[in-house]
Amino acid sequence: MQQHLTGKTAIVTGAAQGIGFAIAGRLAEAGAQVVVSDLNAAAARAAADKIPGALALACDVRDEQQVEALVAETVERCGALHVMVPNAGVAEPAPLTGMDLAAWRRVTSVNLDGVFLSIRYAAPAIIASGGGSIVTIGSVTATAGSPLLASYATAKAGVVSLTQTAATELRPHGVRVNAVLPGFVETPMVTGAVDEFEALLGLPSGGFGSLIAQKQGRLGTVDEVADAVLFLASDASAFCNGSGLLLDGGLRASLF
Ligand SMILES: NC(=O)c1ccc[n+]([C@@H]2O[C@H](COP(=O)([O-])OP(=O)(O)OC[C@H]3O[C@@H](n4cnc5c(N)ncnc54)[C@H](O)[C@@H]3O)[C@@H](O)[C@H]2O)c1
Repeated sequence: MQQHLTGKTAIVTGAAQGIGFAIAGRLAEAGAQVVVSDLNAAAARAAADKIPGALALACDVRDEQQVEALVAETVERCGALHVMVPNAGVAEPAPLTGMDLAAWRRVTSVNLDGVFLSIRYAAPAIIASGGGSIVTIGSVTATAGSPLLASYATAKAGVVSLTQTAATELRPHGVRVNAVLPGFVETPMVTGAVDEFEALLGLPSGGFGSLIAQKQGRLGTVDEVADAVLFLASDASAFCNGSGLLLDGGLRASLF
């Protein structure tokens, strides 16, 4: 099977920058009509302008009505929906005992509630369009203890579990649901938090880079994540359902 999406429509949330933008571009290159969605409407429009044929639709994935409207407007304007990539995510590193409930909810509302809402409203539209694929963005942090990332890692573990349940429930209706689990990838989410990480971990300047070099060799690239998402979104992965593809340079595999 080829990795093409000719004639398919795809939504990518949180697609104005970083991994989401790369995914949107890769799905478009593979032939899909792509909806670039983001909380930041102006940034979504600017991103969509760089992707041939892409539409921009603003959506805050924490808001149920906005997610429902995103799917409805996509179907109205594109005629169908075949692929949903609930990519929008945020991180707020902090020690567990210094994390207040509001901060916990800021992260879990985007990273877990937002994925639930995206699947909840996309799945009926995908079924009505004849079937397709949902690719969630988990994280290696879902698979092991992740200091300073309690809210983030817990939400991502929830995403992995939700992916498995959705895969099971939706398979009879022609919808596959799989996750990618990246390690640390070079995006504004990571590069913008290096100083904060080093301070919280008590590392010297440059210590984060050394840690990454030791644990996963290098930072991943957004294109590497986008390639994996395209594989899972296309018929090339027709027998994958409920799977979680680690893309972490071996971080999770190594004890030392
Ligand atoms: N960068 C990494 O190392 C890494 C590793 C594993 C998983 N991930 C996951 O990949 C996804 C993308 O991360 P990134 O590094 O590209 O982040 P990023 O911060 O570069 O981009 C995130 C995008 O999501 C948007 N967004 C934030 N809140 C939103 C909301 N409520 N509704 C809609 N859009 C919203 C932002 O405006 C931004 O455009 C996230 O789910 C993240 O958790 C990232």
